[in-house]
Amino acid sequence: MAKLSFHSICLLIVFFTSFLITDAAHFGPLKNHVALFIFGDSLFDAGNNNYINTTFKANYKPYGETFFHYPTGRSSDGRLIPDFTAEYAKLPLIPPYLQPGIDHQLTNGVNFASSGAGALVETRQGLVIDLQTQLGYFENVSRQLRKKLGDAEAESLLSRAVYLFSVGGNDYLFPFEINSTVLRSYSPEQFVGLVTGNITAVVKAIYKTGGRKFGFLNMLPLSRTPYAKALLGGGQCFEQITPYVKLHNQELPKRLQKLESELKGFKYSLLPFYSFLEQRINHPSKYGFKEAKAACCGSGPFRGIFSCGGKRGVEEYYLCQNASEYVFFDSIHLTERAYQQFAKPSWNGKPALSGSYNLKALFESN
Ligand SMILES: *[C@@H]1O[C@H](CO)[C@@H](O)[C@H](O)[C@H]1NC(C)=O
Ligand SMILES: *[C@@H]1O[C@H](CO)[C@@H](O)[C@H](O)[C@H]1NC(C)=O
Ligand SMILES: *[C@@H]1O[C@H](CO)[C@@H](O)[C@H](O)[C@H]1NC(C)=O
Ligand SMILES: *[C@@H]1O[C@H](CO)[C@@H](O)[C@H](O)[C@H]1NC(C)=O
Ligand SMILES: *[C@@H]1O[C@H](CO)[C@@H](O)[C@H](O)[C@H]1NC(C)=O
Repeated sequence: MAKLSFHSICLLIVFFTSFLITDAAHFGPLKNHVALFIFGDSLFDAGNNNYINTTFKANYKPYGETFFHYPTGRSSDGRLIPDFTAEYAKLPLIPPYLQPGIDHQLTNGVNFASSGAGALVETRQGLVIDLQTQLGYFENVSRQLRKKLGDAEAESLLSRAVYLFSVGGNDYLFPFEINSTVLRSYSPEQFVGLVTGNITAVVKAIYKTGGRKFGFLNMLPLSRTPYAKALLGGGQCFEQITPYVKLHNQELPKRLQKLESELKGFKYSLLPFYSFLEQRINHPSKYGFKEAKAACCGSGPFRGIFSCGGKRGVEEYYLCQNASEYVFFDSIHLTERAYQQFAKPSWNGKPALSGSYNLKALFESN
């Protein structure tokens, strides 16, 4: 019989101890446990769209190649912002709601985000899980938690949890993609009002279910993505969308401040994704990137044609050697390295947007 070395005994002890700790965290009181619930679009989708009939998927190569070494449904070469947030909060990766068999892990949180989705039900209707439906799924999870933990403990979990959102970008892109009459029948102010109004309504519903701590990305400079530049062709910046982005980034903080004054215990992080991306597009080398205008993966000008992986009509596409040298992985989504550069200061940096917490403070608050 093989002798167990001191080293392997230590490993065994570590193994069984971690087992016990995991078990205790699972079945014991969840006192200081802070769950993470994730809502929105492809910036946050960790695989929900793998389970629906849609073209908005990323469950094929080369997505996932850097970190997971297989495609998970995340629209990047690796991890996304909420994956880093979960890691910093000492949570496991938060599973997609539609992944079969996640019922036993609900106490860590759930990811409801869906690639291509917006806050408006009209945005890519039938191809995505819109924000309203994501809310319905969350309400379902909250019922399951009540059943499993009892009302008191479920309420405590829901009020300590953090609710993270990336939504709105598809609501602004979609009308341009289909040259929708919305662009002529509403002023940009009115349209941004609909989008931010719908986001606010969902936040209020989550508050009603017991949620208190909310995190948001502000809108990225959509006109400067390879995708937007290719949409109009000729490499011209896609400036007609800019008023919507600017108005969104004025309106969202106002709505959040209003919620904070109206709803007792409401707290939020508003993370400056716009300036983060603009700085990197303007000065890539300052942040360690070689290329910030063209994507790593795709075709056409700036590789802005959404063909990465060759499964969306266009079969031929270019793939760079080293995604970490790029800000954009495909025509609209960032590389894991860029997401990580954003996730770190969002966690424990100085909140750049007034009135708002960093995520660590949000997680640690009561
Ligand atoms: C998926 O959607 C496409 C286009 O909307 C449709 O043609 C196809 O039948 C659908 N497939 C399934 C399995 O529902
Ligand atoms: C809610 O969850 C239950 C149990 O998992 C499931 O059977 C039901 O279909 C879900 N409803 C919705 C609207 O997702
Ligand atoms: C969009 O639709 C309007 C009105 O139907 C039309 O005048 C305009 O040329 C269209 N734009 C594009 C880019 O197709
Ligand atoms: C939400 O969007 C719909 C259009 O999808 C609109 O009719 C409705 O007024 C919006 N709600 C709010 C509160 O702005
Ligand atoms: C890829 O690029 C990153 C960032 O420039 C660099 O740190 C890394 O060493 C590169 N990897 C390879 C395999 O060249």
